Amino acid sequence: MITKTEEPGQIMTIERHILEEQRHHPEATGVLTQLLYDIALAGKVIASRTVRAGLVEILGQTGDINVQGEMVQKLDRFADLTIYRLNDHTGRLAALVSEEDQYPIPIPEKYPCGKYILLYDPIDGSSNIDYNIPVGTIFAVHRRITAEGPGTLEDTLQPGNNLAAAGYILYGSSTMLVYSTGQGVHGFTLDPQVGEFLLSHPNIRIPDKPAYFSANLGYRSRWSEGVARFTDYLLGAEAESPRLSLRYVGSLAADFHRNLLAGGVYYYPVDTKDSKKPQGKLRLAYEAAPLAFLAEQAGGYASDGTRAILEIQPEVLHQRTPLFIGSRPLVEKAEELIRLHG
Ligand code: AHG
Ligand code: MN
Ligand code: MN
Repeated sequence: MITKTEEPGQIMTIERHILEEQRHHPEATGVLTQLLYDIALAGKVIASRTVRAGLVEILGQTGDINVQGEMVQKLDRFADLTIYRLNDHTGRLAALVSEEDQYPIPIPEKYPCGKYILLYDPIDGSSNIDYNIPVGTIFAVHRRITAEGPGTLEDTLQPGNNLAAAGYILYGSSTMLVYSTGQGVHGFTLDPQVGEFLLSHPNIRIPDKPAYFSANLGYRSRWSEGVARFTDYLLGAEAESPRLSLRYVGSLAADFHRNLLAGGVYYYPVDTKDSKKPQGKLRLAYEAAPLAFLAEQAGGYASDGTRAILEIQPEVLHQRTPLFIGSRPLVEKAEELIRLHG
């Protein structure tokens, strides 16, 4: 007779998975485990809205402009508030950083401060919201540097190499949560009937043979010589060019997710003709760094064209960076061509 514990077909919820990972760290207190679970809960709430977006007055703009100079969409606002409200009172965080807020968001005085900092892009790919195209949430978790009290700017300005955890939630044809605490990358799919994220993609590794490249080729004439040559290489200009297909969603989380599973490279370089954004478009702290952490955990690599994204010490909160991310040999090829041609 087979006993219950030997029976195959274990249902691995995200809560159980995070708990089991925590057991590898005897010193862990369980706070990070609970924080990740709070983020997963926020993902479920946001997912429930995105699938009804066309029906529940959540499409369109709020009329406000955010710190980045971008129009704030209603779904940006909803997701931003959801993440904040599920995390402000738990005693696990010392501060939050949102794409939508100029300064670090303090924990209200009536609640205790904790030891982590949560940085997040509530909705990544906002320009796609009104067209029923997948969007995501990207998050990064740092341990605070200061010892106690409210979190400071110093706590929020840390290089990706210090990350305690990172991940994203993708609101696509199904909702997925992909995360890492530095022990590989694991993907979960939301079972809407059960209301739980269940492990569907354990231990994700970027395949050796890449399949796709992703960039906004509409800007090609605005890129540097090195990036233009990299693009030619991807398009098959050289004998040893890989045979890649082009896919560009315009939601970084979605483009990254495809290339993580299928192999490939995403890049968003400097626009040489836009002096207002000399460092490209994407934000280091809550877009590039967390995804770089996942890429490296899956055997890939991320660079700003000259150095590893994870090594960059941010100087300001909403610092932008050029980004090349995905299969390691492709990202290194970009670095090589940028080194040679600028
Ligand atoms: P966000 O919606 O958080 O502002 O981020 C949008 C980013 C990223 O998701 C995407 O890859 C890129 O902007 C698309 O920009 P382009 O429309 O310039 O290609
Ligand atoms: Mn974004
Ligand atoms: Mn955003």
